[in-house]
Amino acid sequence: MASWKGRDILSIRDFSRGDIETILKYARKMAPIAEGQKSSRSLDGRILASLFFEPSTRTRLSFESAIIRLGGGVLGFSSVEGTSVQKGETLADTVRMVEGYADVIVLRHPGAARLAAEFTERPVINAGDGAGQHPTQTLQDLYTIWDEKGKIEGQSIALVGDLKYGRTVHSIATALAGFGASLTLVSPPGLEMPWEIVEEVKATGTPVSMTHRLEDVVPTADVLYVTRIQKERFPDPQEYERVAGSYRVDLAILREAKKDLIVLHPLPRVTEIDPAVDRTPHAKYFRQAFNAVPVRMALLEMLLGVGG
Ligand code: NCD
Repeated sequence: MASWKGRDILSIRDFSRGDIETILKYARKMAPIAEGQKSSRSLDGRILASLFFEPSTRTRLSFESAIIRLGGGVLGFSSVEGTSVQKGETLADTVRMVEGYADVIVLRHPGAARLAAEFTERPVINAGDGAGQHPTQTLQDLYTIWDEKGKIEGQSIALVGDLKYGRTVHSIATALAGFGASLTLVSPPGLEMPWEIVEEVKATGTPVSMTHRLEDVVPTADVLYVTRIQKERFPDPQEYERVAGSYRVDLAILREAKKDLIVLHPLPRVTEIDPAVDRTPHAKYFRQAFNAVPVRMALLEMLLGVGG
């Protein structure tokens, strides 16, 4: 799989459907290593730099778990506090310097992933760029749908919540367009999916419908992809208060659902999913969080040119 070596992962648009299918199959082979049942030293001596300018739990820890389970090491920071960024160092300089310390760079930055990639020969993985894209989250989301449902094609998928600022839904909507799924977009008024993304998805012939009412989609959905309202992206806190708590997936609403509906969430959840749902067979969000590890293992091996 030589062609993947050294590539950056900046947007889900960098991948064709065929590329994504290759990654999903590769990830499945990594699952026993991610679970700790098999061991591997395929990335022995390789170093991952994990540069997080914005908060993260799962993304950072799952990248770290992935490289450590493959025999590699990790360095980096999880907040700019205590780094030279506070002294005014530019992103370009940080990246140029880190290039000398690591083989692959995982970056969460409010918007400069693509710019950062221009300053280094090392592969840069965008781990979430503000309200933009989150491509590796999408790969783990697609893996979860494929693994749970057997296929992505033909599924009726509802994206629920903050579709304006949520980067996970931006990425997955774009990716699903290539897979022959149908999409329903459920958001509070004012937090609709950006029209450019809706147009891009529709242009592939994917059926897209929109509603403000969660009740409208629950009975027919195969996948309910629930997201948090992105409080930190609201210019006006009062605007946030107006939409906070708009939707809550609970046992009552799920009574209307198909028996095999799966509920996904990139996490963290705030109030969108009642914890009582965790005990139902619909709840797949913790499995989805685990799936980050085999998917990120596959990506790291591919970018670093080992395995296959
Ligand atoms: C998401 C993110 O950071 O975009 N979390 C994640 O990466 N698993 C979702 C969110 O913060 O709401």
